[in-house]
Amino acid sequence: MTTFDREIEDRLAANGKNADLRSSADALMKATLAARYSYNFSWLGRPIIQYPQDIVAMQELFWAIQPDLVIETGIAHGGSLIFSASMLELNAACGGPRDAEVLGVDIDIRAHNRNAIEAHPLSKRVVMIQGSSVDPEIVRQVRERASGRQRVLVCLDSNHTHDHVLAELEAYAPLTTVGSYCVVFDTIVEDMPGALCGDRPWRPGDNPKTAALQYLKTHSEFVIDERIDHKLLLSVAPGGYLRRVR
Ligand SMILES: C[S@@+](CC[C@H](N)C(=O)[O-])C[C@H]1O[C@@H](n2cnc3c(N)ncnc32)[C@H](O)[C@@H]1O
Repeated sequence: MTTFDREIEDRLAANGKNADLRSSADALMKATLAARYSYNFSWLGRPIIQYPQDIVAMQELFWAIQPDLVIETGIAHGGSLIFSASMLELNAACGGPRDAEVLGVDIDIRAHNRNAIEAHPLSKRVVMIQGSSVDPEIVRQVRERASGRQRVLVCLDSNHTHDHVLAELEAYAPLTTVGSYCVVFDTIVEDMPGALCGDRPWRPGDNPKTAALQYLKTHSEFVIDERIDHKLLLSVAPGGYLRRVR
């Protein structure tokens, strides 16, 4: 490890213990969530519903893992799919897996979104399946496509209720290869004021964080990568970067 790397690790460890820094970040998270900040961005032309910090964290994971398959639940406008496709393309250009693809599942792929994704220059790396991510037939199709892949990265970002995310974890987390991650987005719901959930079925007490914590109780092959939380400070996935350790 270089001196520069060591300094980063020291800073991240210090961040985790810095109550002032964390409470400032928490306040900014609450204010930005209320302002619907995650809807402000696009990636290579497609709207992406993410915080920039999480996008950078994902870029670091793509480079470190060099996945040959990315499984994403929750497509929406396709920004995260095109982001993944772009990372796979860059990895390939740098000597990484040449046939890598991102497989997106969404219960409702709107025609205008599907058309725009299919017309995108990076669509050659994108496969889309329409259906509920917890429908056994959809799970079967995803597992079939994952078979034989060497390095699989999983991202869960669809329906954010506890039961749904727990079912997604049961279905897809086992496809995560050792050393890779199952990223559970929107764990932040646990920490945000319930009123911000509006009429959504998820809220504090019933959300991706509660599902991830329940899953981890019986799946010690995954650990929360707190180092990423300490790095980002601003993230919709605190405690949601689950690293497969065995
Ligand atoms: C938060 S958006 C996804 C955002 C996207 N990952 C991005 O970063 O731009 C959630 C998506 O999940 C989809 N969804 C909701 N319930 C679902 C289910 N049961 N199975 C699959 N997708 C679902 C919705 O249709 C919506 O497009």
